[in-house]
Amino acid sequence: MARDKMGRALRDLRVSVTDRCNFRCGYCMPREKFGRHHKFLPNNRILSYEQIQRFIAACIPLGLNKVRITGGEPLLRRDLFELVSMVSSLGLEVALTTNGSLLADQSDKLYRAGLNRVTVSLDALDPKLHSKITDSVIPVGEVIRGIESAVSSGLNPVKVNCVVRRGLNESEVAPLVRHFRGTGVIVRFIEFMDVGSTNRWSFGQVVPTSEVLQTLSSEFDLFPMERKSPTDVASRWAHSDGSGEIGFISSVTEPFCGGCVRARLSSDGKLFTCLFSNKGYDLADRLTFSEPIQVLTAEISKIWSARSDRYSELRSPKPNSLPRVEMSYIGG
Ligand code: GTP
Ligand code: 5AD
Ligand code: SF4
Ligand code: SF4
Repeated sequence: MARDKMGRALRDLRVSVTDRCNFRCGYCMPREKFGRHHKFLPNNRILSYEQIQRFIAACIPLGLNKVRITGGEPLLRRDLFELVSMVSSLGLEVALTTNGSLLADQSDKLYRAGLNRVTVSLDALDPKLHSKITDSVIPVGEVIRGIESAVSSGLNPVKVNCVVRRGLNESEVAPLVRHFRGTGVIVRFIEFMDVGSTNRWSFGQVVPTSEVLQTLSSEFDLFPMERKSPTDVASRWAHSDGSGEIGFISSVTEPFCGGCVRARLSSDGKLFTCLFSNKGYDLADRLTFSEPIQVLTAEISKIWSARSDRYSELRSPKPNSLPRVEMSYIGG
């Protein structure tokens, strides 16, 4: 099993299957930077499903047990269920992070292909605010339909990720909890992070978890629960009447680098050992089938063993100013 310089294993791989998205959330793909003239990766640089499967298979001897498929928006990629089925056949847990807009029509097929769980990004229920945040004409109703469809397909527990930004969607926090209470859907509130170089992040826009929790506690009776695993990113709280669970991802105020067992593979085959890296290891040429898979495993193990990333723990008091990759490129 591979261990990095801080003794952390490689358990969780996030695979971005495309750098494109049909939304333009201001904190992720602001339209002024990702407009008509933005150069997305050309199709001939995007990894095939077979190459992705090979990379994943090479990570298994190192201790990998979970794969999360992300993007951009992964459901824009044709026949994604085929990749799900290929990953599932390797005996790994497979999850998907999506904006939900294309989920309703695909959730059954994805479930049948072996998808275990799905996480949907949803920052507002209010239709006008949702279109403002996503800078898109796709109605919020489509995303909600996607979430409901995922629940009925059995992709449980379905999680909803809400990035809370000061002055923008704090008013949506309580309505989201109200809406999903009793449905089995776990709503998780994420602190706005300084990921990438285009989202004009500032500390002032971060709404700390403590504040969100205080707002919710005035309406709901919540109690804290243990994390399922020390490597989970979210802290867990539950309604005292058993009507559901809520999560908090406090990567700014309570960094969790100590338990970071996550690696990321970009859609053009670069391995990133931290969400905030400014450099990935280009392994695209190594995903050929001409050399034994053990050679690739050894290469990944070498990269992982040299890892000492803990960006979120080092962020305070001021984020560093090195250019960083965009989240839409390496995936959440
Ligand atoms: P499960 O435990 O499988 O449900 O997945 P998860 O909790 O890892 O969920 P998800 O991938 O949805 O992650 C939730 C959010 O947490 C991401 O969208 C990021 O905003 C943040 N996040 C996840 N991993 C990291 C990480 O390694 N570092 C930082 N700083 N943030 C992360
Ligand atoms: N800070 C926090 N979360 C972010 N996401 C995207 N950009 C950021 C950011 N700057 C979230 C999305 C989605 C997940 C993949 O990452 O809302 O839920
Ligand atoms: Fe697309 Fe998700 Fe980024 Fe929004 S946060 S632009 S939905 S990849
Ligand atoms: Fe892991 Fe980097 Fe996030 Fe820390 S900042 S939890 S090392 S991805």
